[in-house]
Amino acid sequence: MSSPLVSLAGIERRYPRAEREVRALAGVDLEIARGELIALTGPSGSGKSTLLHVIGLLETPNAGTYRFDGEDVSHLDDDARSLRRGRDIGFVFQAFHLISHRTIRENVELPLAYGGIDEPARRTRALRALATVGLESRTDHRPGELSGGEQQRAAIARALVGEPRLLLADEPTGNLDERTADGILELFRAVHADGTTVVLVTHDERVAAIAGRRLALAEGRFVESGPPSPALRETSRQRGEVSGGTTSPFGERSEAKPPGEGEGS
Ligand SMILES: Nc1ncnc2c1ncn2[C@@H]1O[C@H](COP(=O)(O)OP(=O)(O)OP(=O)(O)O)[C@@H](O)[C@H]1O
Ligand SMILES: [Mg+2]
Repeated sequence: MSSPLVSLAGIERRYPRAEREVRALAGVDLEIARGELIALTGPSGSGKSTLLHVIGLLETPNAGTYRFDGEDVSHLDDDARSLRRGRDIGFVFQAFHLISHRTIRENVELPLAYGGIDEPARRTRALRALATVGLESRTDHRPGELSGGEQQRAAIARALVGEPRLLLADEPTGNLDERTADGILELFRAVHADGTTVVLVTHDERVAAIAGRRLALAEGRFVESGPPSPALRETSRQRGEVSGGTTSPFGERSEAKPPGEGEGS
């Protein structure tokens, strides 16, 4: 029998503060099976980003055990964690964290630079990831020349370029209009349909509705949460399913928009 992809037991994350220590995570147990799509919800400050960072090996817990794919990764040093992250995990940050003076293609190539992949192969893979998110016409632009939704898609391409087994995204539809958010949502669905395990942090009820499982945090612990309501599920299904799996959910829109101006300088 295969072990869960992610297994957390008694995870705590504390931050020192002058008056009183903050317990961002106060004892979290969680198992994530391969192929799950999980929505992580909870009020602001409940520990969602912290939990995602711990799962993404960006932060180390103060207590508890983290097993990734059966291996105890709780005490890996920075190098070992980076290696593991680069190989298996894609992360979409709440703020996109794109490097402003580099082109979109260069941004997407960046995670591959640490993996010993040569330049032509990096380029090919970056362009493929950008095509997946419908940004093939924007590869030579700088992030500042892209709309918010396009930057979000570039950030997703960067998370996908290493073909991670686990994709983590922190409020991927925050600050996007409904239509753009729907496009992002379709993309996550397609990635999930391809077999990737996905965890999405979200305040958006429509995002949570596509998840197979919902988890709710409050004050650093899981609280009662159920599966998405059938009504909401139905609504998001009617908005249009990605049927083939190879077509980009953004194809139409990226063509509909004229190319940006003001290149160079
Ligand atoms: N680097 C840090 N230093 C000190 N305290 C922190 C740090 N990061 C998070 N915290 C605290 O830990 C708690 C959980 O923060 P976290 O960012 O995980 O919340 P969140 O659920 O993602 O909130 P939001 O919905 O607003 O993004 C908060 O009280 C926050 O102030
Ligand atoms: Mg957060």
